[in-house]
Amino acid sequence: MTTEPNRIRFDCLAADWDANPGRIALTQAVVATLRKSVPLRPDMKALDFGAGTGLVTLGLLPYVAGITAVDTSGEMLRVLGGKLAAAQITNVNSLLCESNHTPLPPGEFDLVVSSMVMHHLPDVSQMIHRLRPCLRPGGWIALADLESEDGTFHADSTGVYHHGFAPEIICGWLREAGFVDIAVCEAHRILRPSADGRTREYPVFLVTGRVD
Ligand SMILES: C[S@@+](CC[C@H](N)C(=O)[O-])C[C@H]1O[C@@H](n2cnc3c(N)ncnc32)[C@H](O)[C@@H]1O
Repeated sequence: MTTEPNRIRFDCLAADWDANPGRIALTQAVVATLRKSVPLRPDMKALDFGAGTGLVTLGLLPYVAGITAVDTSGEMLRVLGGKLAAAQITNVNSLLCESNHTPLPPGEFDLVVSSMVMHHLPDVSQMIHRLRPCLRPGGWIALADLESEDGTFHADSTGVYHHGFAPEIICGWLREAGFVDIAVCEAHRILRPSADGRTREYPVFLVTGRVD
């Protein structure tokens, strides 16, 4: 299936992506939870899959040696590039990925992280199998996304293939792909006003696992 609907969607959203305080809070919570769940080391190389404007990339950067930020949206990566240039950061590189079949760098990484991307992918198990060879022996994967929701999270569902996930489903796909030490925890709750004036909560989980 094509990545085009999401490329168009995120190219349009890129310029204002970082202006949403809820997104900043979410990415900070994902990085904080990741730090508790994965033994990060300053010599680690990480890959941020679906890095967008690099909110997770730049939050994680102080704790690792360098990060490759992968995304299908040239505009999201262009915003990230502007931030890297402004802060004179040289240990993050961007990789524009044309499709779900673009080869990713094999065997180079100690950590693959991905936040709020899986619900935009038609086949998440295929993505996990594609990311697995990027990891060195002993490397970690950390996937954050929405728990199953009723379809109200996205006002525009173009390029949205899943209304969140039961975390156990992700755990099963990781197990099938050969990951061990799989664990789940809640990383954050996104709060949104609903039509009836109440506040809706959308929990976000972090699933982690390791390759032997
Ligand atoms: C909801 S945004 C999250 C961005 C970033 N991780 C964050 O937390 O701010 C989803 C990102 O995944 C990217 N994306 C969507 N489909 C993708 C694919 N097949 N391969 C790589 N990136 C993809 C989008 O372009 C977008 O930047």
